[in-house]
Amino acid sequence: MIYFLDTADAAAIARLADLYPIAGVTTNPTLIAREKRPFTDIIKDIRAVIGDGAMLHVQVTARDADTMVAEARKLADFVGTGFHPKVPVTAEGLKAIRRLSGLGFRVTATAIVTAQQALMAAVAGATFTAPYVNRLDMIGGDGVKVVADIAHLFRIHALPTRLLTASFKNVQQVHDVTMAGAHSATLPPDILEALIRHPLTDSGIAGFAADWADAYGEGRTTLDLI
Ligand code: E4P
Repeated sequence: MIYFLDTADAAAIARLADLYPIAGVTTNPTLIAREKRPFTDIIKDIRAVIGDGAMLHVQVTARDADTMVAEARKLADFVGTGFHPKVPVTAEGLKAIRRLSGLGFRVTATAIVTAQQALMAAVAGATFTAPYVNRLDMIGGDGVKVVADIAHLFRIHALPTRLLTASFKNVQQVHDVTMAGAHSATLPPDILEALIRHPLTDSGIAGFAADWADAYGEGRTTLDLI
């Protein structure tokens, strides 16, 4: 299981990459637009933080396959090694996924909400498929069930395509997809941080600190005692 950061905020990426070995960064047009800065500056800043070669997923914005392929080619030069074009699974998107995979691109098929969309993207040659868990949950669907079905389909059809689960709003969704057989998840910064935190961990540490301070003095560590 590997975690990506789902954000275009270079400062947040820098902060979290320092505390956890993230596999890379995924962006989408909404996340990029939220930064309110030139597109090229955003991508350059993210690349500077994660380093050359780290995976950076950038979504094409056209609706037709020809322009999607042209975008991916141009983005590849700009984004550099580790670039993954993200292509939404529509009819035109599937066409582009097949063409780009044939050209050697490692494509991430995105905006997936059914297992059949993921299966079709995998057969078209996608390297990653990104099912949107929370968006399904929000309309009474079952995002985790879709992820479990995709994992099952990839296994029984021996497809090498990876599951890059996406769209999370809470820790339980992340835990459930890891149990359902996802290979990776892309998380907003606050959700990655929430995976680490627990009030029992905090109260346990506070108890240790209080007992230690009583015995050896406030602010002292083992460094002061050896
Ligand atoms: C993934 O590819 C998308 O960027 C993202 O996870 C969508 O998440 P949202 O539903 O929080 O917008």
